[in-house]
Amino acid sequence: MQQRFQNEDWKKKMNIRLDFNHMMEEFIQEQGLTEKDIQSLSNKIQQATTAMVEKRKNGQMDWRDLPYNQDEVVEEMIDYVEEVKDEIDAFVVLGIGGSALGPIAVQQAINHPYYNELPKEKRKGYPRLYVVDNIDPERLPALFDILDFEKTLFNVITKSGSTSETMSQFMIIKQILEEKLGNGKTKRHIVCTTDREKGNLIKIAKEEGYQTFIIPEGVGGRFSELTPVGLLPAAMCGIDIKEMLAGAAWMDQRCNQEEIFQNPGHMYGLLQYIAMEKGKNISVMMPYADSLKYIADWYAQLWAESLGKKYDVDGKEVYVGQTPVKALGVTDQHSQVQLYAEGPFDKVIVFIGVDQYRNTVDIPKSYEDIPSLGFLGGTTQNQLIQTEQMATEYALMKAKKMNMTITLPEVNEFTIGQLLYFFEVATGFAGELMNINAFDQPGVEEGKNATYAMFGRPGYEEKKAELDARPKKQEKYIV
Ligand code: PA5
Repeated sequence: MQQRFQNEDWKKKMNIRLDFNHMMEEFIQEQGLTEKDIQSLSNKIQQATTAMVEKRKNGQMDWRDLPYNQDEVVEEMIDYVEEVKDEIDAFVVLGIGGSALGPIAVQQAINHPYYNELPKEKRKGYPRLYVVDNIDPERLPALFDILDFEKTLFNVITKSGSTSETMSQFMIIKQILEEKLGNGKTKRHIVCTTDREKGNLIKIAKEEGYQTFIIPEGVGGRFSELTPVGLLPAAMCGIDIKEMLAGAAWMDQRCNQEEIFQNPGHMYGLLQYIAMEKGKNISVMMPYADSLKYIADWYAQLWAESLGKKYDVDGKEVYVGQTPVKALGVTDQHSQVQLYAEGPFDKVIVFIGVDQYRNTVDIPKSYEDIPSLGFLGGTTQNQLIQTEQMATEYALMKAKKMNMTITLPEVNEFTIGQLLYFFEVATGFAGELMNINAFDQPGVEEGKNATYAMFGRPGYEEKKAELDARPKKQEKYIV
């Protein structure tokens, strides 16, 4: 049977759109860009476009090929889900950063907003999903209060195979499983997602015989949602991962266009780059859909960790990047939008809208004798949220604040696959324009190394000495 994502007409209908009118001078006058601004960068755009092609060819952007080269592992994951799903009631992801934000975002986007509260038959037999990323000591014991270990499968996800947060959680959980279920049964309750060779987890998994899925070598953490990192938790909750990958492939075709006005990913990267050059150091992401709220979290990591850099690729100090801010429409109209409208000209606000929500909610005709209330009657919540989005776009345009809108015809696996891939390409392209390495994160290392040193990890003695020599905090500065 042909699936909907194999139908060209349906795919065209599901095209996500980037509307950047409100970035332009015609709308926000001197705060905006002109087509000339874009043309004047044509050499830079060309260089960045060529670099995107070259780097993909040279294996420096392996995440770009994920929509095409995972047929086998996709089947393996689907088979695995079928094999285990009847035995389990909860699937718990242990991971952090790029190993957690994607699984959360996709689950919230696609599945019922109260998925975990639904009875199993309404979850079509799939388990509940929990993602434990932080190591707040109040969190795990609270989760244990609601888990039946006999019916729980833990997915340890770490690309490096060594992240302290994730590995400490694994150590805690393995011990509890052994205590509760005995050594022999523990194995069936752990599945690992990690690198083929690097790190501790793969060695442990081989030795102890855990089911394992591999994260392809050239794909970094925050670009790994479309690998088993994100695909296994999604499949485990009944999400169609083939359709997600088809959506990513569809966006890839669009992002291969040379002409920037035809290429949404490159255009988004370019617009944000020009905005940054004009001092817009804040990138606000404001979806008008609860289902997309956590896409803003995922984007925040992608954008911040990839583009926030001290050095460019030539080793020059540049101190670049845009601070991502997460907001939610309409909720944040009643909190942050005041600042966006009247505060400094330092932001680009990106709305994410939806044409067709999955439900329509009628607002009943009542209180017709109170005109200031009666006008709502006979309309729908759908109209209200969409109108409020348009009204906020208008208000920000009027206030000359740069804003643009990404619209999903519907929220489904195909459009979410497109959206994730779109932001990844945009990030890579912005990195090229900024002349920085978007795929490393040296700024995160210092804190990690200091933690290791304070914990007395072997090999970190020098760092420990450096830390011990740091200036002592003074009482007078503590109130
Ligand atoms: O993007 C990255 O590389 C990081 O944010 C990682 O995703 C995060 O640190 C977790 O790393 P790992 O998957 O190796 O445990």
